[in-house]
Amino acid sequence: TKIAVLISGRGSNLQALIDAAAQPDFPGEIALVISNRPKAGGLERATKAGIPIEVVDHKVFESRDDFEAALNHALKTAKIDFICLAGFMRVLTAGFANDWRGRLINIHPSLLPSFEGLHVHERMIQAGVKIAGCTVHFVSADVDAGPIIGQAAVPVLPGDTEETLAARILEQEHKLYPTCLKLLLENKARLLGANVIYDDSVA
Ligand code: GRF
Repeated sequence: TKIAVLISGRGSNLQALIDAAAQPDFPGEIALVISNRPKAGGLERATKAGIPIEVVDHKVFESRDDFEAALNHALKTAKIDFICLAGFMRVLTAGFANDWRGRLINIHPSLLPSFEGLHVHERMIQAGVKIAGCTVHFVSADVDAGPIIGQAAVPVLPGDTEETLAARILEQEHKLYPTCLKLLLENKARLLGANVIYDDSVA
């Protein structure tokens, strides 16, 4: 299975996926990294790992459709089967989400459906929640709303700042994302209608 990872920034989740995919038993290959930002730090991580990179800069396109046509062109040229969004900060259209339905996943730093959207850590601290976490989910037409594949929880501790909470969640993101990707690639979890179904082997 050929996987593309789409990023906009530092790419620490990309790195976690690269490291997981480097294991001999990993059932897929990261064949392309695409960034919509030319200066994304994650591009360097990909290059270091010998993975081809593409910059598809949203700013040079007149419409979202043109931007996505360029994304699709890069994905098709590289014969990509499966897409992981990892800190990719562009909203994809319903058309794109439908085209890639069941083969397009995202990681979000909250326990969805709570705290979708932006500035998640700040909002969680302000709300005073005591449990936080992260979610890997299929991407559907609505932002941060597709069927959930996996979640991990962490405590919010007294004295936490946005930074300390984000770091605690990020550590779990780096474990959860490769785990969920592997489940899907091994067909131990898959999308059926609006739900994710699992093999008996998945605890
Ligand atoms: C992560 O917190 C991810 O959950 C969110 O954006 C951040 C990306 O971080 N979608 P990185 O670029 O993977 O380090």
